[in-house]
Amino acid sequence: MDVHNIVMDDPERGIFRVHRSALTSDEVFELEQRRIFDHSWLYFAHESELRNPGDYRRRTIAGRPMFIVRGKDGEVRAFLNTCTHRGALVCRHDEGTAESFQCFYHGWTFNNRGELAGLPGSDAYAEAFDRRELGLKPVPRLESYRGMYFVSMDPGIPDLVTYLGGLRHYIDLTMDSAEALGGWEVVAGTAKFTIKANWKLIVENSLDAYHLPTVHQTYVDYMDTRLEAVGASRMQMQSRLSGQSNGVSYPRGHGGFLHFAPGRTIANLSPLWSESAQTEVTRIREELIQRYGVERGSEMADRSRHLLIFPNLLFQDSHTGFRFRQIWPVSPSELRVEQYDLVPRDEQPELRSYRLEWSRAFLGPGGLATPDDVEALESCQKGYGARELEWNDLSRGMHRQPLASDEVQIRGFWRQWHYLLGGRPAGSEAGDRPPAPVPVHA
Ligand SMILES: [Fe+2]
Repeated sequence: MDVHNIVMDDPERGIFRVHRSALTSDEVFELEQRRIFDHSWLYFAHESELRNPGDYRRRTIAGRPMFIVRGKDGEVRAFLNTCTHRGALVCRHDEGTAESFQCFYHGWTFNNRGELAGLPGSDAYAEAFDRRELGLKPVPRLESYRGMYFVSMDPGIPDLVTYLGGLRHYIDLTMDSAEALGGWEVVAGTAKFTIKANWKLIVENSLDAYHLPTVHQTYVDYMDTRLEAVGASRMQMQSRLSGQSNGVSYPRGHGGFLHFAPGRTIANLSPLWSESAQTEVTRIREELIQRYGVERGSEMADRSRHLLIFPNLLFQDSHTGFRFRQIWPVSPSELRVEQYDLVPRDEQPELRSYRLEWSRAFLGPGGLATPDDVEALESCQKGYGARELEWNDLSRGMHRQPLASDEVQIRGFWRQWHYLLGGRPAGSEAGDRPPAPVPVHA
Protein backbone atom coordinates (compact mmCIF):
# COMPACT_ATOMS: atom_id res chain seq x y z
CA MET A 1 0.00 0.00 0.00
CA ASP A 2 1.20 3.49 -0.80
CA VAL A 3 0.91 5.40 2.46
CA HIS A 4 2.62 8.38 0.92
CA ASN A 5 -0.56 9.98 -0.34
CA ILE A 6 -2.94 8.82 2.35
CA VAL A 7 -2.94 12.32 3.87
CA MET A 8 -3.45 15.36 1.62
CA ASP A 9 -1.84 18.39 3.28
CA ASP A 10 -1.95 21.55 1.19
CA PRO A 11 -1.30 24.60 3.35
CA GLU A 12 -1.16 26.92 0.33
CA ARG A 13 -4.78 26.22 -0.50
CA GLY A 14 -5.82 25.53 3.09
CA ILE A 15 -6.90 21.98 2.36
CA PHE A 16 -6.30 18.96 4.61
CA ARG A 17 -7.79 15.57 3.85
CA VAL A 18 -7.36 12.02 5.11
CA HIS A 19 -8.01 9.04 2.89
CA ARG A 20 -10.61 6.79 4.48
CA SER A 21 -8.48 3.68 4.02
CA ALA A 22 -6.52 5.09 7.01
CA LEU A 23 -9.60 4.18 9.04
CA THR A 24 -10.56 0.89 7.45
CA SER A 25 -7.56 -0.96 6.02
CA ASP A 26 -6.02 -4.06 7.62
CA GLU A 27 -2.67 -3.12 6.14
CA VAL A 28 -2.69 0.32 7.73
CA PHE A 29 -3.71 -1.31 11.02
CA GLU A 30 -0.65 -3.60 10.88
CA LEU A 31 1.66 -0.73 9.95
CA GLU A 32 0.38 1.33 12.87
CA GLN A 33 1.30 -1.42 15.33
CA ARG A 34 4.85 -1.64 14.07
CA ARG A 35 5.62 1.97 13.19
CA ILE A 36 3.61 3.95 15.72
CA PHE A 37 2.84 1.89 18.81
CA ASP A 38 6.27 0.20 18.83
CA HIS A 39 8.07 3.57 18.59
CA SER A 40 6.13 5.85 20.92
CA TRP A 41 6.04 6.49 24.63
CA LEU A 42 2.87 4.82 25.92
CA TYR A 43 1.22 5.64 29.22
CA PHE A 44 1.24 2.79 31.73
CA ALA A 45 0.24 3.90 35.24
CA HIS A 46 0.15 6.74 37.75
CA GLU A 47 2.44 6.88 40.78
CA SER A 48 -0.55 6.90 43.14
CA GLU A 49 -1.27 3.34 41.99
CA LEU A 50 2.23 2.25 43.03
CA ARG A 51 2.64 3.94 46.38
CA ASN A 52 4.02 1.05 48.43
CA PRO A 53 6.62 -1.66 47.80
CA GLY A 54 4.94 -4.57 46.03
CA ASP A 55 2.06 -2.47 44.57
CA TYR A 56 1.45 -3.54 40.98
CA ARG A 57 -0.83 -2.96 38.00
CA ARG A 58 -1.30 -5.39 35.13
CA ARG A 59 -2.14 -3.90 31.73
CA THR A 60 -1.90 -4.74 28.05
CA ILE A 61 0.29 -2.17 26.34
CA ALA A 62 0.90 -2.17 22.60
CA GLY A 63 -0.55 -5.68 22.43
CA ARG A 64 1.90 -7.09 25.00
CA PRO A 65 0.91 -8.41 28.41
CA MET A 66 2.86 -6.34 30.92
CA PHE A 67 2.88 -5.35 34.56
CA ILE A 68 4.45 -2.53 36.51
CA VAL A 69 5.52 -2.96 40.12
CA ARG A 70 7.28 -1.09 42.88
CA GLY A 71 10.00 -3.39 44.17
CA LYS A 72 11.01 -4.03 47.76
CA ASP A 73 13.88 -1.60 47.09
CA GLY A 74 11.43 1.20 46.24
CA GLU A 75 12.22 1.22 42.52
CA VAL A 76 9.43 1.01 39.94
CA ARG A 77 9.97 -1.51 37.11
CA ALA A 78 7.90 -2.64 34.16
CA PHE A 79 8.08 -6.25 32.95
CA LEU A 80 6.76 -8.31 30.10
CA ASN A 81 4.20 -10.52 31.78
CA THR A 82 5.47 -13.89 30.62
CA CYS A 83 7.32 -16.61 32.48
CA THR A 84 10.89 -17.07 31.21
CA HIS A 85 10.37 -20.84 31.43
CA ARG A 86 7.48 -21.60 29.05
CA GLY A 87 5.58 -18.35 28.75
CA ALA A 88 2.54 -18.38 31.04
CA LEU A 89 1.43 -15.10 32.59
CA VAL A 90 3.12 -14.66 35.97
CA CYS A 91 1.06 -11.69 37.13
CA ARG A 92 -2.51 -12.99 37.20
CA HIS A 93 -4.52 -10.11 38.65
CA ASP A 94 -5.11 -6.58 37.40
CA GLU A 95 -3.88 -4.99 40.61
CA GLY A 96 -2.62 -5.80 44.04
CA THR A 97 0.42 -5.91 46.29
CA ALA A 98 2.84 -8.82 46.15
CA GLU A 99 6.29 -9.75 47.31
CA SER A 100 6.63 -12.26 44.54
CA PHE A 101 4.91 -13.60 41.44
CA GLN A 102 4.69 -17.33 41.03
CA CYS A 103 4.02 -18.89 37.66
CA PHE A 104 1.07 -21.24 38.18
CA TYR A 105 2.27 -23.65 35.46
CA HIS A 106 5.50 -25.06 36.99
CA GLY A 107 5.92 -22.84 40.00
CA TRP A 108 8.84 -20.66 38.97
CA THR A 109 8.86 -17.70 41.35
CA PHE A 110 10.02 -14.15 40.65
CA ASN A 111 10.46 -11.51 43.35
CA ASN A 112 9.05 -7.99 42.90
CA ARG A 113 12.38 -6.86 41.43
CA GLY A 114 11.91 -9.41 38.64
CA GLU A 115 14.65 -11.84 39.72
CA LEU A 116 14.06 -15.57 39.47
CA ALA A 117 14.01 -16.35 43.17
CA GLY A 118 13.16 -20.02 43.09
CA LEU A 119 12.06 -22.99 41.05
CA PRO A 120 10.95 -26.44 42.11
CA GLY A 121 13.61 -29.11 41.67
CA SER A 122 16.43 -26.75 40.79
CA ASP A 123 18.93 -29.61 41.25
CA ALA A 124 17.62 -31.05 37.96
CA TYR A 125 19.43 -28.35 36.02
CA ALA A 126 23.02 -28.38 34.78
CA GLU A 127 25.69 -25.96 35.91
CA ALA A 128 25.34 -23.83 32.76
CA PHE A 129 21.76 -23.06 33.73
CA ASP A 130 22.10 -19.62 35.27
CA ARG A 131 19.01 -18.40 37.07
CA ARG A 132 20.36 -14.82 37.00
CA GLU A 133 19.73 -14.81 33.26
CA LEU A 134 16.18 -15.99 33.70
CA GLY A 135 14.68 -13.05 35.53
CA LEU A 136 11.59 -11.41 34.06
CA LYS A 137 12.26 -9.43 30.90
CA PRO A 138 11.99 -5.67 31.51
CA VAL A 139 10.11 -3.51 29.02
CA PRO A 140 12.87 -1.80 26.97
CA ARG A 141 12.20 1.71 28.30
CA LEU A 142 10.41 3.06 31.37
CA GLU A 143 10.37 6.72 32.40
CA SER A 144 8.09 8.96 34.39
CA TYR A 145 7.01 12.56 34.19
CA ARG A 146 5.07 14.32 36.95
CA GLY A 147 3.87 11.02 38.38
CA MET A 148 2.92 9.47 35.04
CA TYR A 149 4.80 6.31 34.08
CA PHE A 150 5.33 5.63 30.38
CA VAL A 151 6.97 2.71 28.59
CA SER A 152 8.35 2.26 25.10
CA MET A 153 9.26 -0.80 23.09
CA ASP A 154 11.87 1.29 21.26
CA PRO A 155 15.25 1.24 23.08
CA GLY A 156 16.43 4.21 21.02
CA ILE A 157 13.46 6.54 21.57
CA PRO A 158 14.35 10.05 22.85
CA ASP A 159 13.81 10.56 26.58
CA LEU A 160 10.28 11.26 27.76
CA VAL A 161 10.86 14.93 28.62
CA THR A 162 12.12 15.61 25.10
CA TYR A 163 9.26 13.58 23.65
CA LEU A 164 6.60 15.57 25.53
CA GLY A 165 8.24 18.84 24.52
CA GLY A 166 6.15 22.01 24.79
CA LEU A 167 3.07 20.12 25.92
CA ARG A 168 4.74 19.88 29.33
CA HIS A 169 3.66 23.46 29.99
CA TYR A 170 0.02 22.34 30.21
CA ILE A 171 0.76 19.06 31.98
CA ASP A 172 2.66 21.03 34.62
CA LEU A 173 -0.25 23.43 35.15
CA THR A 174 -2.58 20.57 35.99
CA MET A 175 -0.05 18.69 38.11
CA ASP A 176 0.95 21.82 40.06
CA SER A 177 -2.67 22.76 40.67
CA ALA A 178 -3.11 19.82 43.06
CA GLU A 179 0.28 20.12 44.77
CA ALA A 180 -1.10 21.92 47.83
CA LEU A 181 -3.84 19.29 48.08
CA GLY A 182 -1.53 16.28 48.34
CA GLY A 183 -1.12 15.72 44.59
CA TRP A 184 -3.39 13.76 42.26
CA GLU A 185 -4.47 10.23 42.91
CA VAL A 186 -6.25 7.74 40.71
CA VAL A 187 -9.67 6.86 42.05
CA ALA A 188 -10.15 3.11 42.45
CA GLY A 189 -11.83 1.56 39.43
CA THR A 190 -11.37 1.82 35.69
CA ALA A 191 -14.02 2.44 33.06
CA LYS A 192 -13.40 0.05 30.17
CA PHE A 193 -15.49 -0.14 27.04
CA THR A 194 -15.21 -0.89 23.35
CA ILE A 195 -16.58 1.01 20.37
CA LYS A 196 -17.06 -0.31 16.86
CA ALA A 197 -14.94 2.35 15.24
CA ASN A 198 -11.31 2.95 14.30
CA TRP A 199 -9.17 4.08 17.26
CA LYS A 200 -8.24 7.34 15.57
CA LEU A 201 -11.88 8.42 15.47
CA ILE A 202 -12.05 8.74 19.24
CA VAL A 203 -8.69 10.52 19.30
CA GLU A 204 -10.17 13.04 16.86
CA ASN A 205 -13.41 13.19 18.84
CA SER A 206 -11.61 13.89 22.13
CA LEU A 207 -9.77 16.82 20.48
CA ASP A 208 -12.86 18.11 18.74
CA ALA A 209 -14.73 21.09 20.17
CA TYR A 210 -16.62 21.58 16.88
CA HIS A 211 -19.12 18.83 17.68
CA LEU A 212 -20.20 20.03 21.14
CA PRO A 213 -23.29 22.03 20.14
CA THR A 214 -24.52 19.35 17.74
CA VAL A 215 -23.78 15.89 19.16
CA HIS A 216 -24.13 17.07 22.75
CA GLN A 217 -27.29 19.13 22.36
CA THR A 218 -29.04 16.88 24.90
CA TYR A 219 -26.40 17.65 27.49
CA VAL A 220 -26.49 21.38 26.74
CA ASP A 221 -30.28 21.46 27.12
CA TYR A 222 -30.15 19.41 30.29
CA MET A 223 -27.58 21.71 31.85
CA ASP A 224 -29.50 24.82 30.82
CA THR A 225 -32.63 23.47 32.46
CA ARG A 226 -30.81 22.62 35.66
CA LEU A 227 -28.96 25.91 35.82
CA GLU A 228 -32.09 27.90 35.11
CA ALA A 229 -33.88 26.08 37.88
CA VAL A 230 -31.33 27.29 40.44
CA GLY A 231 -31.33 30.82 39.04
CA ALA A 232 -27.84 30.78 37.47
CA SER A 233 -26.84 34.02 35.79
CA ARG A 234 -26.68 34.29 32.02
CA MET A 235 -22.92 34.86 32.30
CA GLN A 236 -22.46 31.58 34.17
CA MET A 237 -24.47 29.71 31.60
CA GLN A 238 -22.77 31.22 28.59
CA SER A 239 -19.23 30.82 29.85
CA ARG A 240 -19.83 27.10 29.76
CA LEU A 241 -19.80 26.82 26.01
CA SER A 242 -18.80 30.07 24.44
CA GLY A 243 -15.86 31.22 26.53
CA GLN A 244 -12.55 32.07 24.89
CA SER A 245 -10.86 28.98 23.70
CA ASN A 246 -8.14 27.93 21.32
CA GLY A 247 -6.47 24.93 19.76
CA VAL A 248 -2.78 24.12 20.20
CA SER A 249 -0.51 21.79 18.28
CA TYR A 250 3.03 20.73 19.15
CA PRO A 251 5.75 18.71 17.45
CA ARG A 252 5.44 14.91 17.61
CA GLY A 253 1.66 15.02 17.25
CA HIS A 254 0.75 16.33 20.70
CA GLY A 255 -1.90 18.99 20.99
CA GLY A 256 -5.33 19.83 22.22
CA PHE A 257 -7.75 22.60 22.99
CA LEU A 258 -8.05 24.95 25.90
CA HIS A 259 -11.32 26.28 27.13
CA PHE A 260 -12.03 29.25 29.34
CA ALA A 261 -13.84 28.01 32.43
CA PRO A 262 -13.39 30.34 35.38
CA GLY A 263 -12.36 28.51 38.51
CA ARG A 264 -12.16 25.42 36.31
CA THR A 265 -14.94 23.57 38.02
CA ILE A 266 -16.79 26.26 39.81
CA ALA A 267 -18.16 28.65 37.21
CA ASN A 268 -19.92 25.98 35.23
CA LEU A 269 -21.41 24.00 38.01
CA SER A 270 -21.22 26.12 41.11
CA PRO A 271 -24.88 27.08 41.11
CA LEU A 272 -25.63 23.38 41.53
CA TRP A 273 -23.15 22.86 44.35
CA SER A 274 -23.51 23.45 48.06
CA GLU A 275 -22.36 26.74 49.49
CA SER A 276 -19.46 25.11 51.33
CA ALA A 277 -18.22 23.48 48.11
CA GLN A 278 -18.38 26.82 46.30
CA THR A 279 -16.45 28.51 49.09
CA GLU A 280 -13.81 25.78 48.99
CA VAL A 281 -13.27 26.02 45.23
CA THR A 282 -12.94 29.79 45.50
CA ARG A 283 -10.39 29.31 48.28
CA ILE A 284 -8.40 26.84 46.16
CA ARG A 285 -8.37 29.31 43.26
CA GLU A 286 -7.09 32.13 45.50
CA GLU A 287 -4.44 29.88 46.95
CA LEU A 288 -3.19 28.96 43.48
CA ILE A 289 -2.89 32.63 42.56
CA GLN A 290 -1.05 33.35 45.78
CA ARG A 291 1.30 30.43 45.30
CA TYR A 292 2.01 30.73 41.57
CA GLY A 293 1.20 34.38 40.77
CA VAL A 294 -1.75 35.82 38.91
CA GLU A 295 -0.70 34.68 35.47
CA ARG A 296 0.14 31.06 36.20
CA GLY A 297 -2.35 30.61 39.03
CA SER A 298 -5.31 31.83 37.00
CA GLU A 299 -4.22 29.80 33.99
CA MET A 300 -4.36 26.74 36.24
CA ALA A 301 -7.69 27.59 37.77
CA ASP A 302 -9.57 29.17 34.89
CA ARG A 303 -8.84 26.96 31.96
CA SER A 304 -9.86 23.47 30.93
CA ARG A 305 -7.15 21.47 29.19
CA HIS A 306 -8.13 18.76 26.71
CA LEU A 307 -4.81 17.32 25.56
CA LEU A 308 -3.51 14.44 23.52
CA ILE A 309 -0.17 12.89 24.43
CA PHE A 310 0.58 11.21 21.10
CA PRO A 311 -0.46 8.64 20.12
CA ASN A 312 -3.16 7.42 22.46
CA LEU A 313 -3.43 9.16 25.83
CA LEU A 314 -6.05 11.84 26.37
CA PHE A 315 -5.28 14.08 29.30
CA GLN A 316 -8.56 15.77 30.16
CA ASP A 317 -8.62 18.37 32.90
CA SER A 318 -11.94 20.14 32.69
CA HIS A 319 -15.10 21.13 34.50
CA THR A 320 -16.08 17.47 34.43
CA GLY A 321 -13.02 16.41 36.42
CA PHE A 322 -9.53 15.21 35.54
CA ARG A 323 -9.04 11.93 33.76
CA PHE A 324 -6.69 9.88 31.63
CA ARG A 325 -8.40 8.23 28.73
CA GLN A 326 -6.28 5.71 26.90
CA ILE A 327 -7.24 4.42 23.49
CA TRP A 328 -6.20 1.03 22.08
CA PRO A 329 -6.80 -0.29 18.59
CA VAL A 330 -8.52 -3.69 18.57
CA SER A 331 -9.06 -4.04 14.81
CA PRO A 332 -9.42 -1.52 11.97
CA SER A 333 -13.04 -1.04 13.01
CA GLU A 334 -12.92 -1.51 16.78
CA LEU A 335 -11.28 0.39 19.61
CA ARG A 336 -11.02 -0.02 23.34
CA VAL A 337 -11.11 2.76 25.94
CA GLU A 338 -9.61 2.54 29.43
CA GLN A 339 -10.20 5.59 31.56
CA TYR A 340 -9.08 6.62 35.00
CA ASP A 341 -10.41 9.49 37.10
CA LEU A 342 -8.00 11.45 39.26
CA VAL A 343 -8.76 13.71 42.21
CA PRO A 344 -6.55 15.75 44.56
CA ARG A 345 -5.66 13.42 47.39
CA ASP A 346 -6.54 15.75 50.27
CA GLU A 347 -9.49 17.48 48.70
CA GLN A 348 -12.70 17.77 50.72
CA PRO A 349 -14.81 14.64 50.32
CA GLU A 350 -17.78 16.74 49.24
CA LEU A 351 -15.82 18.34 46.39
CA ARG A 352 -14.45 14.97 45.39
CA SER A 353 -17.92 13.52 45.07
CA TYR A 354 -19.10 16.49 43.00
CA ARG A 355 -16.18 16.06 40.62
CA LEU A 356 -16.71 12.35 40.26
CA GLU A 357 -20.43 12.80 39.80
CA TRP A 358 -19.82 15.19 36.89
CA SER A 359 -17.12 13.05 35.40
CA ARG A 360 -19.48 10.08 35.31
CA ALA A 361 -22.42 12.20 34.19
CA PHE A 362 -20.57 13.57 31.18
CA LEU A 363 -17.80 11.23 30.04
CA GLY A 364 -18.58 7.99 31.83
CA PRO A 365 -19.60 5.13 29.52
CA GLY A 366 -23.22 5.68 30.61
CA GLY A 367 -22.99 9.47 30.86
CA LEU A 368 -24.63 12.19 28.84
CA ALA A 369 -21.78 12.64 26.37
CA THR A 370 -20.05 9.31 25.74
CA PRO A 371 -23.07 7.38 24.38
CA ASP A 372 -23.73 10.23 21.93
CA ASP A 373 -20.08 10.23 20.86
CA VAL A 374 -20.16 6.44 20.43
CA GLU A 375 -23.20 6.77 18.18
CA ALA A 376 -21.37 9.39 16.08
CA LEU A 377 -18.16 7.37 15.76
CA GLU A 378 -19.91 4.11 14.89
CA SER A 379 -21.98 6.02 12.37
CA CYS A 380 -18.79 7.36 10.71
CA GLN A 381 -17.32 3.87 10.56
CA LYS A 382 -20.48 2.58 8.89
CA GLY A 383 -20.35 5.51 6.48
CA TYR A 384 -16.90 4.37 5.30
CA GLY A 385 -18.60 1.30 3.86
CA ALA A 386 -19.55 3.62 1.00
CA ARG A 387 -16.08 3.24 -0.48
CA GLU A 388 -16.69 5.41 -3.51
CA LEU A 389 -16.37 8.45 -1.28
CA GLU A 390 -12.68 8.36 -0.43
CA TRP A 391 -11.69 11.38 1.67
CA ASN A 392 -12.45 12.97 5.07
CA ASP A 393 -11.99 16.71 5.32
CA LEU A 394 -10.13 18.32 8.22
CA SER A 395 -9.40 21.78 6.83
CA ARG A 396 -11.34 23.82 9.36
CA GLY A 397 -9.52 26.99 10.45
CA MET A 398 -6.37 26.12 8.52
CA HIS A 399 -5.57 29.70 7.60
CA ARG A 400 -6.43 31.57 10.80
CA GLN A 401 -5.45 31.70 14.46
CA PRO A 402 -6.86 28.37 15.53
CA LEU A 403 -9.91 28.34 17.77
CA ALA A 404 -10.78 25.31 19.88
CA SER A 405 -13.53 24.46 17.40
CA ASP A 406 -11.00 24.40 14.54
CA GLU A 407 -9.18 21.25 13.58
CA VAL A 408 -5.55 22.35 14.05
CA GLN A 409 -4.96 19.89 16.90
CA ILE A 410 -6.47 17.06 14.86
CA ARG A 411 -4.25 17.91 11.88
CA GLY A 412 -1.23 17.87 14.22
CA PHE A 413 -2.13 14.32 15.22
CA TRP A 414 -2.58 13.18 11.60
CA ARG A 415 0.65 14.79 10.43
CA GLN A 416 2.68 12.87 13.00
CA TRP A 417 0.71 9.71 12.29
CA HIS A 418 1.44 10.09 8.59
CA TYR A 419 5.11 10.81 9.21
CA LEU A 420 5.60 7.72 11.38
CA LEU A 421 3.72 5.57 8.95
CA GLY A 422 6.24 6.50 6.29
CA GLY A 423 4.61 9.47 4.65
CA ARG A 424 5.95 12.96 4.32
CA PRO A 425 8.10 14.39 7.13
CA ALA A 426 6.01 16.18 9.71
CA GLY A 427 6.54 19.85 10.37
CA SER A 428 5.27 20.74 13.81
CA GLU A 429 2.36 22.55 12.23
CA ALA A 430 3.55 23.11 8.69
CA GLY A 431 1.19 25.42 6.96
CA ASP A 432 -0.97 26.34 9.92
CA ARG A 433 -0.34 29.46 11.93
CA PRO A 434 1.45 29.03 15.26
CA PRO A 435 -0.85 28.51 18.26
CA ALA A 436 -2.33 31.70 19.64
CA PRO A 437 -0.92 32.82 22.97
CA VAL A 438 -3.15 31.83 25.85
CA PRO A 439 -5.11 34.80 27.19
CA VAL A 440 -4.91 35.20 30.93
CA HIS A 441 -7.82 36.16 33.14
CA ALA A 442 -7.14 37.58 36.54
FE1 LIG B 1 -18.23 14.50 22.34
